[in-house]
Formats: sequence, C-alpha cells, structure tokens
Amino acid sequence: KNVVILISGRGSNMEAIINAAIPEARIAAVIANRADAAGLGFGQARGIATAVVDHKAFASREAFDAELATVIDGYAPDLVVLAGFMRVLTPDFVAHYAGRLINIHPSLLPSFPGLHTHARALESGVKLHGASVHFVTADLDCGPIIIQAAVPVCDDDDEKALSARVLAQEHRIYPQAVRWFVEGRVELAAGRARIRDAES
Ligand code: GRF
Repeated sequence: KNVVILISGRGSNMEAIINAAIPEARIAAVIANRADAAGLGFGQARGIATAVVDHKAFASREAFDAELATVIDGYAPDLVVLAGFMRVLTPDFVAHYAGRLINIHPSLLPSFPGLHTHARALESGVKLHGASVHFVTADLDCGPIIIQAAVPVCDDDDEKALSARVLAQEHRIYPQAVRWFVEGRVELAAGRARIRDAES
C-alpha cells in the first residue's frame, strides 16, 4: 500500500513509521508545508521522494489544499498520514481523503483537542495523559479514534518531561496504526474506527 506522510517540522513520528519498516507499507513520499522542515532530510537520506508545498505561497487555505492534494495524489496514496502537520485542512480536502487520512494528537482525546496539550494537562491536574491516533474528519482533532496510549502524569512533571513521556508512546502507536491500516485491519465505518485482530 502506498503511504504519503505529511510533516511540518521535526518529523520524529515520520521517522518512527519509516523505521518500523512495515512490510505492507511503501512510503511513497514525505511532503512538508515548509522547506525548512527538519524531517525532510531524514526522508531524503532514506531515498524517499520528498516535496514541499509552501502554504505561504497561496492566497487561501482552499488554494493551498487544492495544490497539496494534487501533489499527494501524484503518489497514488492508499493512506495519508499527518505526522506533526501543523495546518488545519479544509472540509473539501478532508472529504477527498475520507477513510484514508489519519492524524496523531498528543492527548487522550476527546480531552485537550487543539494546541499546548501537555501544558493544559498539567494545568488541569489529570493523572493520566497520552496520545491518540484518529481518522481525520471535518471536526478538528475529533475524528474516530484508532488507538490510544496512556502515560502517568507525575507530581514533579514539567511540560518537557511529560511531552517526552507521551512522545515515546506516539512512536509506538503511530506505526502500529499504520500497520493495522495497510494490513486491512482497520477501517472507517459508520463513523467509527473498526479494528480486527488488534492484539498484535
Ligand atoms: C507530536 O507530538 C504530534 O503528536 C503533534 O506534533 C508533534 C510532532 O512531532 N501533532 P514530530 O514532528 O513527529 O516529531
């Protein structure tokens, strides 16, 4: 299955997915919305096609998303993976990739959608925090959940310590979700992520 990964920055989740070397997943391309996205270098070093679609070059969100979709579709993706892709996508874009567009969010959704999740978790006093992989729908960070991982929030945590604990789990569950998808074990059906044989 062809997998296209979208990044905006560091790309550590992209690295984890590439390093997982999922037999059924061919990483067709890594696409960034910024030429300085650090993760592009990793993709190039692995011989993966990379592309930049700079959102600043477009007058509207719609125009950016239309060009982004054209570039993505050039790689005939079965799955599009948002890995720290920091752009809100238009409903048309999301509809075009319905059922084959996934995202990772650094919280236990539906808690803490949006930005600054670790600071907000610390502020709220929750004892469990984590990460969620979900299908992308028109509602930001609210699509059907595929897999989650929880971590404890410790008394002496700061944002850095907590985010590192969560990130380690992101690097575990995102490749897992991609693997389930390309193996045909997860699909979006009736507004839910349906998962078969999820034990491994
Ligand atoms: C991750 O914490 C991800 O959950 C969030 O943005 C961060 C991206 O990190 N959406 P990286 O670029 O994958 O290293």
